[in-house]
Amino acid sequence: MVRKPTRGCFITIEGLDGCGKSTQLEKLAAVLRAEGRDVVVTREPGGTPMGEKVRAILLDSRTSGLEAHAEMALMFAARAQHAAEVIRPALEKGRIVLCDRFTDSTEAYQGGGRRLGSEAVLTMHRILLGDFQPDLTILMDSEVAASVERARRRNRGNAPAGTDENRFERENRAFFERVRQAYVEIARRDLDRVLRVDARRPVEVVHREIVQAVRSRFLRSSRTA
Ligand code: TYD
Repeated sequence: MVRKPTRGCFITIEGLDGCGKSTQLEKLAAVLRAEGRDVVVTREPGGTPMGEKVRAILLDSRTSGLEAHAEMALMFAARAQHAAEVIRPALEKGRIVLCDRFTDSTEAYQGGGRRLGSEAVLTMHRILLGDFQPDLTILMDSEVAASVERARRRNRGNAPAGTDENRFERENRAFFERVRQAYVEIARRDLDRVLRVDARRPVEVVHREIVQAVRSRFLRSSRTA
C-alpha cells in the first residue's frame, strides 16, 4: 500500500503537555544541524497548510462538543496529509525528520484520555498509513500535575486573550493520568522503537541522553562522513 522510505531517519518526540518536548526537539535539531545534517522539524497536529487549519479547530478552546471519534479522525486527516506532503518526501531525500507528536499521541490522548482504546487508533493508523512508523520515538516521561500546570502557564503567557489554553489543557487530572498510562503501555509494548526518558531532570541532562541515543542508533557509522 504505502511505500516504505529507504533513506532518511524519522524521529518523533512524545509526552504530556508541558513536559519540555519542544525545547528538546529544538536542541536536538541544533546539534544535528551543526554537524551539517539536513534536518526537518515539524509537528502534529499540523505541519502542512491543511493540517494547520485542522489544528486550529482541534486546539481552539472555543471548539465545543467535538465527538471523540471525530476528534480522532481529524488528527488522522492532518497526519495523512502531513505524511504524504512533508514526512515521506523528506525521508526519501535522505533527510532527518524530527516530529513533535505522531500516532502515539492519538493512542495516548484519544485512545487513553478519551477512552476510545488503542485498537481503534491502531486500526485507523493501518488503514491510512500502513506500516509506516518512526524509527525512534523519544517519550518524555513526566508527572501529570507539574507538566500540565507548566503548559497552562506557558500558554497564558503567549496567547492572545481568549485563547489562553488549548482545548486539551482544559481536561482534568484523570484525563491526563489516562494519557500518561497509555504512553507507558506503548513504551512497554514497543521497546525497540520507544526510548523512555525521565523528563523531570534538568534540560541539559535530558538533552545529552537524547543526543546519545540518536547517535548510537543512527549516526555512528556516518559520524565522520
Ligand atoms: P500543543 O499546543 O502542540 O501542545 P504540546 O506543546 O504539548 O504538544 O497541542 C497539541 C495538543 O494536541 C496536545 O494537547 C495533545 C493533543 N493531541 C492529541 O490529542 N492527539 C493527537 O494525535 C495529537 C497529535 C495531539
